[in-house]
Amino acid sequence: QRNLATEYIGHEIHHYSEVDSTNNVAKELAEKGSPEGTIITAESQRSGKGRRGKKWISPHGGVWMTIILRPDIPTSQAPLLTLLTGVAVAETLKRECNLDVGIKWPNDILIGDKKVCGILTEASASKRGLDYVVVGIGIDLNVNVDDFPPELREGATSLQRELEKEISGVKLVQNFLLNFENFYNDFKNGQFQHILNQWRRLSTTIGSTVEVQKRGRTVRGEAVGITKEGVLILEMPDGSLRKIISGECTHFKG
Ligand code: BTN
Repeated sequence: QRNLATEYIGHEIHHYSEVDSTNNVAKELAEKGSPEGTIITAESQRSGKGRRGKKWISPHGGVWMTIILRPDIPTSQAPLLTLLTGVAVAETLKRECNLDVGIKWPNDILIGDKKVCGILTEASASKRGLDYVVVGIGIDLNVNVDDFPPELREGATSLQRELEKEISGVKLVQNFLLNFENFYNDFKNGQFQHILNQWRRLSTTIGSTVEVQKRGRTVRGEAVGITKEGVLILEMPDGSLRKIISGECTHFKG
């Protein structure tokens, strides 16, 4: 913490050896009034949460962290925070670890075609607008993915595996928080375009054929762009355009 160069992100840190989920702890703290920039970290999570109700395996050796944010933005812009966080993680891994990382819409950070980090954003909103947002980040740092269940093992990797050495989580997190704060300040100053451009540059989704599960149906089209709200635009085989707000996105190889 002493080497943290940020202005406010990570100035209040709640560190636990084990929690159920850092996102859940963050929501409780946010309800009690914890300030913007508060972070919650844990060495392991008993019931880490992935998107769409999935489990997120969180043993020792990973980075399991949640940031509390209180942005003054319309609720419709909350998904942009996921994109912003993805850009900050990807830039950090590129710079610190010299890795060629990509982002799969909306929130998977990939090395090659294997996932190394996931982001889970949860927002609390009322009629008056957004109250707070918690952004959970899970990075498979020094984690042995061979211990993962078979269905997850194949699509996952860790930084340790990619770099063939253990790396310091503290330094990585400090650099990430600084990158994150810079992007977040840009965002609060209305510089969405800069973030979206970065996202597009890092995206492995734009330009590829993707399948998205939407209300139990599979929609397949070519990802041609994202809107300024972070919504994915698919071009369908008949040339029409469809907007995809969220959903599981599979890059279609075939
Ligand atoms: C996903 O890709 O499905 C999102 C995974 C998000 C995992 C992180 S780990 C820290 C935070 N706490 C949780 O329970 N989940 C997020």
